[in-house]
Amino acid sequence: MPSSFSDKNKTGWHATILTLFPKMFPGPLGFSLAGKALNSGIWNLKTVDIRNFAQNKSRSIDDYPFGGGTGMVMRPDIVDTALEAVADRPGPRLYPSPRGAIFDQSWAKILAKEPGAVIFCGRYEGLDERVIKARNLKEVSIGDFVLSGGEPAAIIIMDALIRLLPGVLGTTTGLSEESFENGLLEYPLYTQPRNWNGIIVPETLTSGHHAKVKAWKRLKAESITRERRPDLWEQYMKNNDKSSSSR
Ligand code: ADE
Repeated sequence: MPSSFSDKNKTGWHATILTLFPKMFPGPLGFSLAGKALNSGIWNLKTVDIRNFAQNKSRSIDDYPFGGGTGMVMRPDIVDTALEAVADRPGPRLYPSPRGAIFDQSWAKILAKEPGAVIFCGRYEGLDERVIKARNLKEVSIGDFVLSGGEPAAIIIMDALIRLLPGVLGTTTGLSEESFENGLLEYPLYTQPRNWNGIIVPETLTSGHHAKVKAWKRLKAESITRERRPDLWEQYMKNNDKSSSSR
């Protein structure tokens, strides 16, 4: 085995990243909330360099696609060996890919409840289909655009789930009102000064009237969602059994 995995006794949520660019990690996850959580053992990170599993002198891990086409394809034997080397690391096996199901907040919550995840970051055109199937890799997309590799997607997925791990956010009250928690985008936020360049903070927010503030927030969240995200709005209406004709 090119590397040993003697970090079983590490605490917290176990992140395992297979990549050709281990230096990209923890990257942004080494800062702020995620960085503090990493240092305090709320999560731990194992990066594995896929290149270590190359079998030839040139250390190549890809080859030309059968049937032609642009770009190169990551070889199934090498991907398989790399995944086998992290067989002891817990959690679902994810493969960031524009072909995957779209990652969202509910998926982040599900992942945060797992003991960890193994994320295989592809480069080039992608992985040989056979190893995706054989290793039961779950393809996950972070949106309808094409990145140059899976690493930025892995970082985004990890960021979203790490902040949900117990002890990462100071309080849990912040979570219940943020975007997507109730199927709506978040209402607009205001802070001091009350009067900034002649623009005054909405009066309701400074009224001290708790019920009115709550109603204002819900109304604003609804109108922002309706305007910006008709897809979310439609779902919200369905879930709350409201008729869209009443709006
Ligand atoms: N790799 C390349 N594009 C991607 C995307 N949109 N989501 C996840 N992984 C990717």
